[in-house]
Amino acid sequence: MHRPQALLVMRPGTFRIQFGPEQLDRLRTVAELGDPVWAQDLDTSAARARLTEAEVLLTSWGSPELTAERLAAAPKLRAVFHCAGSVRAIVSEALWSRGILVTSAAEANATPVAEYTLAAIIFAGKKAHVLAAQSRLEPFSWHAVGDREDLSNYGRVIGIVGFSRTGRQVMERLRLLETGEILVTDPYADPAAVAGAGGRLVELDELLTRAEILSLHLPELPGTRHTIGARELALLPDGATVVNTARGSVIDTAALERECATGRLNAILDVTEPDPLPAGSVLASLPNVMITPHIAGSLGTETRRMSAQALDELQRYVRGEAPLHPVTRETLEVSA
Ligand SMILES: NC(=O)c1ccc[n+]([C@@H]2O[C@H](COP(=O)([O-])OP(=O)(O)OC[C@H]3O[C@@H](n4cnc5c(N)ncnc54)[C@H](O)[C@@H]3O)[C@@H](O)[C@H]2O)c1
Repeated sequence: MHRPQALLVMRPGTFRIQFGPEQLDRLRTVAELGDPVWAQDLDTSAARARLTEAEVLLTSWGSPELTAERLAAAPKLRAVFHCAGSVRAIVSEALWSRGILVTSAAEANATPVAEYTLAAIIFAGKKAHVLAAQSRLEPFSWHAVGDREDLSNYGRVIGIVGFSRTGRQVMERLRLLETGEILVTDPYADPAAVAGAGGRLVELDELLTRAEILSLHLPELPGTRHTIGARELALLPDGATVVNTARGSVIDTAALERECATGRLNAILDVTEPDPLPAGSVLASLPNVMITPHIAGSLGTETRRMSAQALDELQRYVRGEAPLHPVTRETLEVSA
């Protein structure tokens, strides 16, 4: 079996977590590792010596962009296996022009985001974060809320914007709940694929007028900025919860702040614009808004799921099989 020369490119903390002894042993079964095994700065003489020999790179968070100049130092390079989500920060026109294979572990990174979203949707149905904030101010028993109709998940209409890797994985997990209809908006999605995943593809306005919980899974692109603005938020039913694990820029933050400040809407946000919000932000201080610091994606052990996916791709490459998660210039135009 042909064993390509491999170089790992990422920041030190990422290397330590993603490539422990188990992952390095697995890597050694399919590739040759030189010295150094790993680099973050590709412009040192030691890294340049390794780049000259490298046929494959395993990149991750902290990898520098693979510019024309760096690629000129890598004449044998044929494939880049990204051990994290988006490859946007590392790819370049020169990389595409050379026809170098690029794969990503975004599918594996979507898993913890989907898990977080499922939890957020369940809590949104019960308005758990709102009641927790209220009971910190003035403790109350369930008798105070037992007759309310709006604290439940059964039959709730869910709106998913973006039939993405994450959106699809959220829908798989929603099968665990007996929700109501799952409405999906995505200009590129196939209605049959959405139906197969348990949803119904509709226009954004229809989704917004019915969604009791709105969950955003679209990418940050020039065309997706403020997809959810004041007009769109106004379409949501009273008491709806906005869940955002995508990117802060897809929502008009000021408009969301206004709707949440009146108490008409609630929010659970893992991402904001700016991210993080400045100290003293009104949105962050509202009792019906829960904000987490961009933790939905892979952290800790979850990052090893991404290593495993990249190593699977490397193994397929070595065996001459087609990659399962390739990224091209064209697919990147509509994806994260
Ligand atoms: N919170 C986190 O830690 C975290 C981690 C990973 C990803 N993310 C974010 O989650 C989002 C989804 O990531 P992904 O990898 O699942 O995406 P993806 O690349 O798999 O899919 C993007 C999909 O969005 C669809 N789309 C494009 N424009 C759209 C529009 N205007 N309206 C609706 N749909 C549109 C396209 O069909 C595309 O397939 C991205 O914003 C990403 O940055 C966040």
